[in-house]
Amino acid sequence: MNRRKIYEGKAKILYEGPEPGTIIQYFKDDATAFNAEKKGTINGKGVINNRISEHVFTRLSHIGIPTHFVRRLNMREQLVKQVEIVPIEVIVRNVAAGSLTKRLGVEEGTTLPHTLLEYCYKDDSLGDPLIAEEHIACFNYASQDEMQDISAMALRINDFMCGMFSAIGIRLIDFKLEFGRLFDGDFSRIILADEISPDGCRLWDMETNEKLDKDRFRRDLGGEEEAYQEVARRLGLLPEENEADVLDMEHHRAKKGK
Ligand code: TMP
Repeated sequence: MNRRKIYEGKAKILYEGPEPGTIIQYFKDDATAFNAEKKGTINGKGVINNRISEHVFTRLSHIGIPTHFVRRLNMREQLVKQVEIVPIEVIVRNVAAGSLTKRLGVEEGTTLPHTLLEYCYKDDSLGDPLIAEEHIACFNYASQDEMQDISAMALRINDFMCGMFSAIGIRLIDFKLEFGRLFDGDFSRIILADEISPDGCRLWDMETNEKLDKDRFRRDLGGEEEAYQEVARRLGLLPEENEADVLDMEHHRAKKGK
């Protein structure tokens, strides 16, 4: 197809959309960790993340969170509104895991006394360093009004997602959000952008504490395909059985070059 590629990231490709102000997000199976030091693929991940992100963004819009999501186009693509990405990764934590445990020596699995918001400066060449709100103000990565909107939305999203996942027996440990500026003439407002999927969330089975997210890949635990499928299945996005058939079908079609 003859369309302009705007950007290729680690897990997605962005193409120019059909109308001005729109973008197509294509979800790849590529997986990276530790700032792309570790590279691999998780078969079918793109298809599943496209569906999970569609589901979560749609449900968030129903509670009044403005998002870039317009509609899913096909197995691996969704149409989104074009935004200027705020160069900050917002990390929301309910339970200690990952870099927090390393940085502060907290034991993995420790429930935090309250939800913790952290910010990282989005710059791969620097390894997305942790920054304080003071850095955000000092270097003008976002205005104070924007940070108010971002932090308030992040907490609402967390409340909603904790409930959504606990209803399907999953504990939401932590996750990453990205926001963008949607312009209307000279004015802009903050909306939720990027994706929400097991790539950027830690999700533990409530009964067994089994990890159902990208930590399976990061830590070489194996079973990452099954874990992503399990999250999609519990959210009601895959048929109870034969979910693998959906992916097989796509594989088959891809081989025929359709
Ligand atoms: P961390 O413990 O490695 O800082 O990660 C916190 C959460 O943010 C975890 O759910 C994974 C997610 N995350 C991303 O989505 N992208 C990233 O580049 C990083 C470092 C974390």
